[in-house]
Amino acid sequence: MPNVRFPQGFLWGAATSSYQVEGAAHEDGRGESIWDRFSATPGKIKDSTTGEVACDHYHRFPEDVRLMKELGLQAYRFSIAWPRILPSGRGQVNQRGIDFYARLIDALLKAGIQPFATLYHWDLPQVLQDEGGWPNRATAEAFVEYADVVTRAFGDRVKDWITHNEPWCTSILSHQIGLHAPGLQDWGKALAASHHVLLSHGLAVPVIRGNSASARVGITLNLTPAYAASPSPADQDACRHFDGHFNRWFLDPVHGRGYPGDIIADYIAMGHLPPEGFTVVKEGDLAAIAVPCDFLGINYYFRAITRSDKILDAQNLPRTVEMAPEAEWTEMGWEVYPDGLNHVLNRVNLVYAPQSIYVTENGASYGTAPDGEGRVRDERRLSYIRDHFVASRRAIDAGVPLHGFFVWSLLDNFEWDRGYSQRFGIVWVDYETQQRIPKDSALWYKQVIAENAFEVP
Ligand code: FCB
Repeated sequence: MPNVRFPQGFLWGAATSSYQVEGAAHEDGRGESIWDRFSATPGKIKDSTTGEVACDHYHRFPEDVRLMKELGLQAYRFSIAWPRILPSGRGQVNQRGIDFYARLIDALLKAGIQPFATLYHWDLPQVLQDEGGWPNRATAEAFVEYADVVTRAFGDRVKDWITHNEPWCTSILSHQIGLHAPGLQDWGKALAASHHVLLSHGLAVPVIRGNSASARVGITLNLTPAYAASPSPADQDACRHFDGHFNRWFLDPVHGRGYPGDIIADYIAMGHLPPEGFTVVKEGDLAAIAVPCDFLGINYYFRAITRSDKILDAQNLPRTVEMAPEAEWTEMGWEVYPDGLNHVLNRVNLVYAPQSIYVTENGASYGTAPDGEGRVRDERRLSYIRDHFVASRRAIDAGVPLHGFFVWSLLDNFEWDRGYSQRFGIVWVDYETQQRIPKDSALWYKQVIAENAFEVP
């Protein structure tokens, strides 16, 4: 018997992103993206694969929408590929790109599935990268033009818009750590990128609202709660720094507080910013970034445990992060820590009080394959998801305005620098035949959605 119930109207969804599922990389006038370039560069992707074909969602979306409907999904979070819409980054609009998303959106609406469209999930047009990419302020202006074109085209049908997915990844992971496209290792560029991404968000929100009167607009941040490895002042300080670098650097400006002063001071001390400070921030930028939003999207996967000794000798902070030694880990090497989601949701609500919150991504990588009968018994994924639903329910009980949850991911897909080696889908994808098989987690999720409740053993 179900013993955990969700509030009526809670929105149950699943998420994907364009480069990870669409394929059709050279079709219908799509321009090159930084992920095409990056994944074609030897050594960048663990299994030397690319998103050229991926799940072929570009051609198979009717089948995928049918599958979503069959699972009872109420919402689908997908992203729009900028280079399909504006192959040169700005200027000439590619009608065939518009047509593709129009077909997808219409199919979703016909199936009674609410579209949540993310404008930027990392596939920047390569031409804009060639002009400097996100470290270049002009990219923020190009993004506003792109947001304008897209919301003019679909603002009548799509009501829920997410400007950016995980600015930390777009900036730090991609420009300092270098694991994601464009694969740079430069603090100055990474921090400039972080500001221009947030600026582009702030400038785009009013444009989106102008094109779609009833639009609900938000941004998705990946948040990682930090816990000090010991009560020592040094470990506590490492925790402060990690949290500031990873979470507050984005949460604070979006909620009108500007960039955290302690982290600017740390970056100056570490030589990541010049003594004059964060000089890419121009007059009016912080006010633009602080534009009120309708919701905050939170992606949550794991927590961080911080130790000072590692921070001191590491150039990039995430590598200083440890996981609990006795913990359970997914195949990504990410610790399973559902309580961190409850923590993050409560903290964000108490400190920043967004109008509304969605978990826009949460899920787990386990490679469990079909058995002899073609069934995928992915129990560990099922319990991962279930335990994060429980954490969400706890947060709701504590008063957090959490209104929906998107499981990452609908389909197994191209997991960035890990290629196809990591499977996050609740639906198995056979990359040879493109066959889809709903895993046990998907069948369980279907029941949760139908009952708006589930049983915790
Ligand atoms: C998030 C990304 C998403 C996916 C998951 C596993 O950081 O937003 O595209 O790769 O991680």
